[in-house]
Amino acid sequence: MSSQDPILQPFALRDNFVVRNRMVMAPMTNFSSHADGTVSEEEIAYYTARSGGVGMVITACAYVSTSGVGFDGEIGVQADRHLPGLRRLAETIEVRGAKAILQIFHGGRTCRPDLVENGDVVGPSDVRLERAPAQPIRPLREEEILSIVQDFGEATRRAIKAGFSGVEIHGANGYLLQQFFSAHTNRRTDDWGGDLQRRMRFPLAVLEEVQRTVALHADRPFIVGYRFSPEEADDDGITLEDTFALTSELAKRKPDYLHVSLSDFWSRPRRAADIETPRVLQLQRHIGHLTPLMAVGSIHTPDEARLALATGVPLLALGREIVVEPEWVEKVASNRTNDIRISLTKQDRETLVVPEPLWNSIVNTPGWFPVSDEVKCVEADKSTP
Ligand SMILES: Cc1cc2nc3c(=O)[nH]c(=O)nc-3n(C[C@H](O)[C@H](O)[C@H](O)COP(=O)(O)O)c2cc1C
Repeated sequence: MSSQDPILQPFALRDNFVVRNRMVMAPMTNFSSHADGTVSEEEIAYYTARSGGVGMVITACAYVSTSGVGFDGEIGVQADRHLPGLRRLAETIEVRGAKAILQIFHGGRTCRPDLVENGDVVGPSDVRLERAPAQPIRPLREEEILSIVQDFGEATRRAIKAGFSGVEIHGANGYLLQQFFSAHTNRRTDDWGGDLQRRMRFPLAVLEEVQRTVALHADRPFIVGYRFSPEEADDDGITLEDTFALTSELAKRKPDYLHVSLSDFWSRPRRAADIETPRVLQLQRHIGHLTPLMAVGSIHTPDEARLALATGVPLLALGREIVVEPEWVEKVASNRTNDIRISLTKQDRETLVVPEPLWNSIVNTPGWFPVSDEVKCVEADKSTP
């Protein structure tokens, strides 16, 4: 490590808003909030352990509407009763020097009926999910669409009030905003569906409402990011070219960053004019000069992070790796790179301060996290470039 290490360079997202380094804790659901969506002690401890080094912490996705709850133990920002816990969460993160960013979310058609109001699963259209073919999806009425747009605004107002430094709009991973943008899940024939411009209308309306709320309520720099998935597998799903169009429109509205959700930073497009160049490089070329790009996906070691930053992408998020190694940045900064864990054992829950519900998912989902019989560190990882 040296003071020149690209990982440790501060980055100004805008005037008066400097992030202390290039690493971000990726948004990760931890299934550990109370049943009413309020923040639990386990979550506070989990974020406390992970906020001492990274530049920003993006929280687990928080539901903005009662029709949009996606998971058991999901954090809520839907009502004022969520405020005290959110305040504690923001403070826990900020006091350790990281910017606290609340991810705001509506699950749409992926929601479980037992988690949403009246068991009513809503989405742009009734296109059944393969994993739950029997579950009908009720197409949203126009007034409901407008009301969800307002819910994103209200969630932003609460995030400001609770002391967060920003919000990230969850437009990725197949949830409501993406469902509207995708021709696979949006079959509407009104002004909220149809051609590309109409399918963008809902995500853009959410961004504009969030920005309007910030202009109205924030008395300090408060940033707005937007997360998107660049492609879908379905034949009629989102293509990289569609994403170029969406990100151009998003960038025109000047969000503070765009965040591309990838499982592998270097992954190549499924279908595009150029299927050889990694998606992240094409996106950086397309919008990087307009809006800072954040990227994510299977980055574990500092060398992998440096290689990714060398592309010009200014911000990198760590997902599973920051669960496995809460002090990732601290170890880079204090020259303890060889001690960075890149796998965990089933005995590590307390050492790593992971809430039990998240831990159970990790150890019961083979192949999701690197779990082995003994902890592996960077030093032992011969495959590191
Ligand atoms: C436990 C877990 C929960 C996640 N929850 C969210 C979430 O709430 N919001 C989101 O945008 N992405 C979520 N993701 C995706 C991550 O943010 C990230 O994009 C993904 O894990 C790939 O990064 P990684 O290879 O560094 O883990 C989740 C991932 C994991 C492992």
